[in-house]
Amino acid sequence: DWTMKAFREEAIERIRAQVGTGRVICGLSGGVDSAVAAVLIHEAIGDQLTCVFVDHGLLRAAEAEQVVTLFRDHYNIPLVHVQAQDLFIGALEGVSDPEVKRKTIGRLFIDVFDEEAKKIGGADFLAQGTLYPDVIESVSFTGGPSVTIKSHHNVGGLPERMKMKLVEPLRELFKDEVRVLGRELGLPDAFVGRHPFPGPGLAIRVPGEITREKLDILRKADAIYLEEIRNAGLYDVIWQAFAVLLPVKTVGVMGDARTYDHVCALRAVTSIDGMTADFYPFDMAFLGRVATRIINEVKGINRVTYDITSKPPGTIEWE
Ligand code: XMP
Repeated sequence: DWTMKAFREEAIERIRAQVGTGRVICGLSGGVDSAVAAVLIHEAIGDQLTCVFVDHGLLRAAEAEQVVTLFRDHYNIPLVHVQAQDLFIGALEGVSDPEVKRKTIGRLFIDVFDEEAKKIGGADFLAQGTLYPDVIESVSFTGGPSVTIKSHHNVGGLPERMKMKLVEPLRELFKDEVRVLGRELGLPDAFVGRHPFPGPGLAIRVPGEITREKLDILRKADAIYLEEIRNAGLYDVIWQAFAVLLPVKTVGVMGDARTYDHVCALRAVTSIDGMTADFYPFDMAFLGRVATRIINEVKGINRVTYDITSKPPGTIEWE
């Protein structure tokens, strides 16, 4: 793709011009965007870059290993793997408001990056894989009253006290363009084709207060759902699919016993850029199979629903 080739060259020049001889820390989230940003920046400035992958305890099953393997083994890019589960989950205790959850997570990410920057003797820049839709959905729309739909964890600039400046080489791109750029940079197809995953992770897929127990239940249900989607050959036609663990318990019956457990909602949407989306029209047999598996295999869930809300008026995530 010649356009992306040109973008790549230009972006590399821009990064070099911005960074000079400075040191850069790049936060990896496990998603496509931050991975593409990291590889691009690495191409521009080599070992002036250190990547930091923060395990905040809000990742999906097996996610951390996949990222670490890709960066250390495949790319040979220096990567610090920070175990920050207790920090994040501790800070989120008792927090149920979606915006407070998002802001708490955003603040802790910055704290961790700051800390890691100190360990490598200081960094001048923090790099992020912010995309164009992240920018427009998080800031106030020009002209009218300020409307923030959601505070994306990686948008909105840095706190005053932080000395690092931002490097955001993907700020003008949409998701499909980032995937083209990722392929252009040689990232494996399976990685480039991954569904988007939000920085605040599973915290925004457990509406209300999170607990470790709820996160564990959600991880299991989510893994089953995605396994079935892959087996049905549907992963690549869906923009994003995930399970949500509702803070509601309902009554059920299993064998001859009464159950009183959580409801799990399944979400799957098609989209071009995440700005608008339609729910995916699975056939009922597929949904029935997934529901049966989740209820039989995941202790703590006894009812499954499917979310048929499009965006707008719904958002893709539940918080
Ligand atoms: P919503 O829920 O706003 O999501 O319709 C649109 C897309 O953005 C992702 N998303 C995020 N990505 N940090 C991210 O990196 C965030 O804070 C964040 N919030 C939502 C969401 O998964 C969907 O793809």
